[in-house]
Amino acid sequence: MADDLQHDILIVGGGGAGLRAVIAAAEAHPDLDIAMVSKVYPMRSHTVSAEGGAAAVIKDNDSIEEHIHDTISGADWLADQDAVELFVNEAPREMIQLEHWGCPWSREEDGSVAVRPFGGMRIRRTWYAADKTGFHMLHALFQTSLKHTAVKRYDEWFATRLLVEDGRCQGVIAIEMRTGEVHAIRARSVIMCTGGGGRVFPFTTNAAIKTGDGMAMAYRAGVALKDMEFVQYHPTGLPGTGILITEAARGEGGILVNTEGRRYLEDYNLGEPVPIDDPRHPQLRTMELGPRDKLSQAFMKEQDAGRVFSGEYGTYTHLDVRHLGEQLIMERIPFVRELAKNYAGIDPVHEPIPVRPVVHYMMGGIHTNTDGETSLPGLFAAGECACVSINGANRLGSNSLTELLVFGKRAGLSAAEFAREHPDLDTDGLEAQRADEEASIAARFRTPRDGGERLATIRRELNATMEEGAGVYREESGIRATTEKVGELKERFENVGIDDHSKSFNTELTTAIELGFLLDVGEAVAHSALERTESRGSHQRTDYPDRDDDQFLKHSLAFRTDGAPRIEYADVTITNWPPAERTYGN
Ligand code: FUM
Repeated sequence: MADDLQHDILIVGGGGAGLRAVIAAAEAHPDLDIAMVSKVYPMRSHTVSAEGGAAAVIKDNDSIEEHIHDTISGADWLADQDAVELFVNEAPREMIQLEHWGCPWSREEDGSVAVRPFGGMRIRRTWYAADKTGFHMLHALFQTSLKHTAVKRYDEWFATRLLVEDGRCQGVIAIEMRTGEVHAIRARSVIMCTGGGGRVFPFTTNAAIKTGDGMAMAYRAGVALKDMEFVQYHPTGLPGTGILITEAARGEGGILVNTEGRRYLEDYNLGEPVPIDDPRHPQLRTMELGPRDKLSQAFMKEQDAGRVFSGEYGTYTHLDVRHLGEQLIMERIPFVRELAKNYAGIDPVHEPIPVRPVVHYMMGGIHTNTDGETSLPGLFAAGECACVSINGANRLGSNSLTELLVFGKRAGLSAAEFAREHPDLDTDGLEAQRADEEASIAARFRTPRDGGERLATIRRELNATMEEGAGVYREESGIRATTEKVGELKERFENVGIDDHSKSFNTELTTAIELGFLLDVGEAVAHSALERTESRGSHQRTDYPDRDDDQFLKHSLAFRTDGAPRIEYADVTITNWPPAERTYGN
């Protein structure tokens, strides 16, 4: 239906990055017309489920230099160092700002902000609100955004396509889920804050809504997806559901144990078991507080050696927090206890928690600079859907919540400037695109047809091939098979039929469109992984076990074509930290 929805800035996605962008733009430019589209009510965005914390230098025993170094080495030197420097420098201000907006950070006895150890960080610098950090951060952001009453919210509107005209992004097309109407929302600038696409894998901590929407929309509009081969497995997910058991459980002293009762990380060159009560202990990052890529790889090796448990939902090891005692568990990680009781049927005060690696985060995403700008004028991105890049080949736990603050704000400010400088929109051309999208959705999904393909079958096959070819360990024939399978699934997806042709809250329709997004994300991951013939961070090739800085100290850029994506490479920005061996031992 043709209508007249137009704003200066349109933010797509109601999670932490989107809300931070809204607030930044509204505070700095109260005269601009700002709107937000979100396929769920903002408080249901995936940020809400973040648990362990957000990193920023705050204590005297820490330093900006050390946070930068930990992030760069954690990234296996694939992060852009100018971006990391900027991020680390801006992080403390953002975290204090969040406190002023009401985020109830946990405190030390003396009343100062408490920080906990986290994986790959040599110094305690992870701020937290017990183990419901994302919940409290999202509340603080959402409630602050409500102060800006002029901001228009399109809650439960599902963006399906970018409006691109005259080489510039000029809004999005979105389905109003309550009515089923397809609208064009015009905007002088658009910020994608739609999160990652972990749902392309079968076993993930990611909410069902994380289907790579923003990544796929940008990719379809010709913007490169950067470093998509780098997919993070978090070492401790609950078998069956994939629910995250936060790294905070290990930060507080939890240990990982195999079937022999052994603290098996001792065997993986991650340092000696040491007490962690010295706040500046140089070995804080050892053992269970090693980085996620290495811990997930260690699990796979234990599995190969037959030292993991086997249960109804596959293999697992034990995360033991019993020695911490009920009081500390209830004070610092009460949610871990709640989740373990409800979803694993065990009480971690008395029994170890079954855990296994689980897809958690995508280091890759929409190629942006540090202002969130993409190569498509008028299109910006921030949060997990973007790749700035500060995370390189492996993100350190607790950097991503801070990242969405720092870069959400920066994207909000730069999108506002762009909107001011580019007031004209092509309203006629945009309406034609809306009509085209409406017709295509109607033809494909709103009329009965039996093309012989089912959504669930294609999704299951996509999930399976991603895990088989692009899991923790990869090698040429497996990845190649995955690229071929994804190509086949994309073709079969054209013949998919759905049963529900109703208009209001047609979740089968949204699931179908989301599956299309996931297929694009999976394609970019698999092809980028095939081309990178080295091992770095989360991308471990058994056929190319070494890091190869000569050839691959480079970002990959996947561009969509009518066939397989075109993979190009771009230099990594190195400032003061020349590539070095990444060590976590003593
Ligand atoms: O384990 C966690 O709480 C996850 C944190 C993160 O991904 O940053």
